[in-house]
Amino acid sequence: MTDAAKLSLVTSIADLPAQSAGQPASKAESRARYFNSGNAFNVRLPAVPNAVFVDEPRRALDLATPTGLIACDASAAMQCSFPATTPFVLTRYARIRAGAQLQTDFVCSGAIFFVIQGHGQTEAGDETIHWRQGDLFMAPGDHAQRHIAIDDDAVLWVVTNEPQLAFENLRAPAPGNAPSGLVHYPAAEIDRQLETLYTVGSSDEIAGLALIFSSDQQAAGRNILPSLTAAMNSLPPGGQQRAHRHNSVAVSLVVDGDNCFSMIDGERKDWAPWATTITPPVSAHSHHNDGDRLAKFLIVQDGGLYYHARTMGFEFTDT
Ligand SMILES: [Fe+2]
Repeated sequence: MTDAAKLSLVTSIADLPAQSAGQPASKAESRARYFNSGNAFNVRLPAVPNAVFVDEPRRALDLATPTGLIACDASAAMQCSFPATTPFVLTRYARIRAGAQLQTDFVCSGAIFFVIQGHGQTEAGDETIHWRQGDLFMAPGDHAQRHIAIDDDAVLWVVTNEPQLAFENLRAPAPGNAPSGLVHYPAAEIDRQLETLYTVGSSDEIAGLALIFSSDQQAAGRNILPSLTAAMNSLPPGGQQRAHRHNSVAVSLVVDGDNCFSMIDGERKDWAPWATTITPPVSAHSHHNDGDRLAKFLIVQDGGLYYHARTMGFEFTDT
C-alpha cells in the first residue's frame, strides 16, 4: 500500500503515525519526524506510582547483606528507560560492612545521604567528614565519594537527581563546577534546629513543622540542590499535617514514629520503619501521627524544578 493510500484510510490527525521527510536531501533532514496537535499534544505517560518500598530497607538492614547499594526502582511502572524512583529522583539504601568501603560515583549534581545506622566517614574531593546515626550530608556530584563504616555495619539512605541528568543524557558537573560544596548536617544540630521551630511555633497557614536543609551556596533558593529540596518533617503526638497538594513529587524516609500514616488521595498508607514512600505529584495528601512520640520523616522533593518554573501549584485541599 502506498503512503497516499495509507493516508486516505486515516480520518483524524490523531491517528496519524509519525511522519518523515518526503524526499530528504540530507541525513539531517532524514532524521526529522513530524507529529501534530492530535497525536502529540497533552502527552500522557504512566503515572508516578503511590508506592512504598519496604523490601529494600529490609534487605539493607539485614546482617547478611553485603556492602553495596539497593535501589528503590519504579522505572518499570513509569516506563522509564533508566533507574528512577520518581521521574527525576532516584533513592537507594547503602549497606557498608564494618571496616569496609563503598565507592559512589553517581552521575548527578549532588547526592543526599542520611545515616540510618552506624558511624563512619566519607571522603569527597579533598574533604573528609565523620558521620553517625541521624546525620544528613550532601556530597556534590563533581567528585566520587568513598564511604567507610567504622566498628559496626552502617546503613545509609541515598537520594540523587540521576534520572534528571539521565533524561537529558547529561554528565555530572566538572570538578569545581558543582552547585555546592560538601555540606554536613549533624544529628544533634538537626534536633537543636527542630527544637527551635517548636519553641517559636507555627500557624495553620504553614504546611507542617519541617526543617529545610540548604547551604551557603544554595541559600537564595532555600534548597539543598538547585532542583532538590530536603526537609526533616515532624509531627507531634496526635498531630497531623494539614492536607495539601503540590506539583513536586516527594520521596520520604520514615525516620521515627509509631502509629503514623499518610492519606494520599483518600487512600490510607501506613508507615513502616525506614520505608521509602512516594507521594505522587498533585495528589492531595496529609500525614498523621496517632502515636505518643514525635514522628520524624525525611522528605526529598524535586521542588527546585517547580520553584524555578514558577509552577509549584501548592494549595491546601481542606478548604
Ligand atoms: Fe506535601
